[in-house]
Amino acid sequence: MCGIVGYVGGQPALDVVLSGLKRLEYRGYDSAGVAVQTPDGPLATEKRAGKLANLEKALAENPLPGGTVGIGHTRWATHGGPTDANAHPHTDNATEVAVVHNGIIENFAALRAELAERGHVLKSETDTEVVAHLLADEVRELGGDTVDLAEAMRRVCRRLDGAFTLVATHAGAPGVVVGARRNSPLVVGRGAGEYFLASDVAAFIAHTREAIELGQDQVVELSRDGVTVTDFLGRPADVREYHVDWDASAAEKGGYDYFMLKEIAEQPRAVADTLLGRIDGEGRLTLDEVRIDDQVLREVDKVVIVACGTAYHAGLIAKYAIEHWTRIPCEVEVASEFRYRDPIMDQQTLVIAISQSGETMDTLMALRHAREQGAKVLAICNTNGSTIPRESDAVLYTHAGPEVAVASTKAFLTQLVACYLVALYLGQVRGTKWGDEIFEVIRQLADAPKQVEQVLETMEPVRELARSLADASAVLFLGRHVGFPVALEGALKLKELAYMHAEGFAAGELKHGPIALIEQDLPVVVVVPSPRGRSVLHDKIVSNIQEIRARGAKTIVVAEEGDEAVVPYADHLVRIPVTPTLLQPLVATVPLQVFACELATAKGHEVDQPRNLAKSVTVE
Ligand code: M6R
Repeated sequence: MCGIVGYVGGQPALDVVLSGLKRLEYRGYDSAGVAVQTPDGPLATEKRAGKLANLEKALAENPLPGGTVGIGHTRWATHGGPTDANAHPHTDNATEVAVVHNGIIENFAALRAELAERGHVLKSETDTEVVAHLLADEVRELGGDTVDLAEAMRRVCRRLDGAFTLVATHAGAPGVVVGARRNSPLVVGRGAGEYFLASDVAAFIAHTREAIELGQDQVVELSRDGVTVTDFLGRPADVREYHVDWDASAAEKGGYDYFMLKEIAEQPRAVADTLLGRIDGEGRLTLDEVRIDDQVLREVDKVVIVACGTAYHAGLIAKYAIEHWTRIPCEVEVASEFRYRDPIMDQQTLVIAISQSGETMDTLMALRHAREQGAKVLAICNTNGSTIPRESDAVLYTHAGPEVAVASTKAFLTQLVACYLVALYLGQVRGTKWGDEIFEVIRQLADAPKQVEQVLETMEPVRELARSLADASAVLFLGRHVGFPVALEGALKLKELAYMHAEGFAAGELKHGPIALIEQDLPVVVVVPSPRGRSVLHDKIVSNIQEIRARGAKTIVVAEEGDEAVVPYADHLVRIPVTPTLLQPLVATVPLQVFACELATAKGHEVDQPRNLAKSVTVE
């Protein structure tokens, strides 16, 4: 939800911090700020409401003194609106300590009241500011010749409830930056004589690819001499060091106007990468990271998928594959609703938590609830070492690479691939699918990158159509079977990017109410299932297209090559390659992504950073 950067080294800290924040702006962009230790003592800070560009402009007008130790923040507001005063860093009254924060401190009101009683004057509406004041008090209480900021942080963390990543620096601790994490991401980058702290490795891969993953409830102290990690009680903590194999350019726009365009274009590669290395020498599916015993998987009697937004739509599609290939009942639930209805689970329930970021709080809370009930949890995740896979029994990573645009595209396609693999794997260990059947689906999946590429090569008419509809008041999306979640996904993309009324419906449900929405020239996108295999589905949707066209709708029909039955009823026809029914979402979703992106661009919207949204939603 917010992006955090910390730096200790030999370079100008402001440059390092600002370039890191630029890479993290996808996490929130309603205000930004920095604090730098200056050589002669005091902290220099600047912060501004609005995008990072506002902060950069302010810094250009009033440059801060130079320094080689600094912290920075880009915010997605929770407590207090996006104002200069609420922007981070927050400081104590003497501006000796500066702190940035991601998450929510649930007991901040009580702490604030306590601080006010002790004479502290708090200037913002945020929960974060209490931490700056508490740190200042703890430093004072600890006394001594040198400031022990790490110990002060440990003491403060022990008093906080909620989720937090905190990064702080103190004027009396030259050359030191301290961080802490609970339920919120923080990674350390280890360079030559320089160290970084960030919410995401994207912030520092231009400087180093060596990273250290911090665990839950840990405090880290960075100085040019090295990194010290302890738990909140000061005991040395185990950490995992790893090499980041993402290319630095993967986190850049690579010549595209928007990250979203780049990420749409990367989909063939991303799908191929997610499929890589999944078949062993004997033609059997192997999911190396899945560490749930096959016997446990054989005993599973129910699958429950929890996820949010686009990942939830991937889950809806997965249900069709899981039930069809394994005959295990599968439920799919929006993660934010899951635990509140007291869902029935036990040791034989397999919960699949799908998340691009691995930090979505609703999904994290759902998986924790599932584990408390004894269920096994398998994460499908794109972000290595993030909280959701760490807290799951097993993980299957999608290999989409960093997804920066707020609107999820390549993560969605790779989540689908991962879901198909899990369904096939379940079928393999339980014997509901023969080896050659599994191999055949894998072979069909292996065609997907090429097919997605074909779709991408034929998108100009879709872009033209999108531009022509920039003034439409609404767009509806219809689908049947796996085409229904595709319709939901098409509508979600349009809502979040073009800020338009867009709804996805099961085509058969239309006549039960939504058909009343159809009026002259209303654009309706229809995702048509293949006429082969389940022809009954196809015939039904052709009738649905006729019904809406008879009422004046402008029909935009997404249908596979060779499907001639739809031609008379399509005002606009978008062709997709021939695929097996269950795999069709891999190709049918792509035109809807392109459509939404182009329409939003035509409306002059900021495609990568739609209003009110953040890439990673770490609050419930
Ligand atoms: O990181 P996650 O996959 O857990 O995120 C879930 C949703 O917040 C996310 O898919 C959101 O709906 C996207 N902005 C949709 O494009």
